[in-house]
Amino acid sequence: MRKLSLKGRTYPTDLNPGGTAFGGWVMSKMDKAASIAVDDIIRSSAVTVTVSRINFLKPIHNGDIFTIYTEITAIGTSSITIYVSVEVQDLNTNKSHEVTSAEFKFVAIDTNGKPVNVRSVLHDDIDEDTKILLQ
Ligand SMILES: CC(C)(COP(=O)(O)OP(=O)(O)OC[C@H]1O[C@@H](n2cnc3c(N)ncnc32)[C@H](O)[C@@H]1OP(=O)(O)O)[C@@H](O)C(=O)NCCC(=O)NCCS
Repeated sequence: MRKLSLKGRTYPTDLNPGGTAFGGWVMSKMDKAASIAVDDIIRSSAVTVTVSRINFLKPIHNGDIFTIYTEITAIGTSSITIYVSVEVQDLNTNKSHEVTSAEFKFVAIDTNGKPVNVRSVLHDDIDEDTKILLQ
């Protein structure tokens, strides 16, 4: 299930010399949004292990309001894969369009930083879509 994980606005310090949002800044926001999606389903810590298929589809401009949606797409033994999509709102029409997307993989870890089985650290109230991915 797609969820809204993060929302914010772009400021001048977030821009590259060309005047649009710096790619590393966008990726950092996406990583945070993905970590929030992971925290929604497990109580242990988790770290990013891979980022793949990142697509910068359209530029993000100064002052744009962005919304980051996440969807958990796969759950392995210790890993959780999340599709992350950044959308920008057109302030004139109030419509949103996708500007960046990527796939993030997180690994659930114990206090020693070693992978743990996701099933052993699940929250009690996980949603039906997550339960299906766990089967
Ligand atoms: C993530 C980390 C704990 C994995 O440790 P590891 O000993 O390599 O773990 P494993 O080989 O048992 O793999 C654990 C899971 O990660 C997946 N994985 C590990 N490396 C991967 C890679 N390069 N690509 C895709 N998946 C990978 C494995 O497939 C496995 O998934 P599964 O349990 O669902 O089958 C370790 O590599 C690490 O601490 N990396 C640094 C993380 C970090 O600092 N991130 C940035 C800040 S959050």
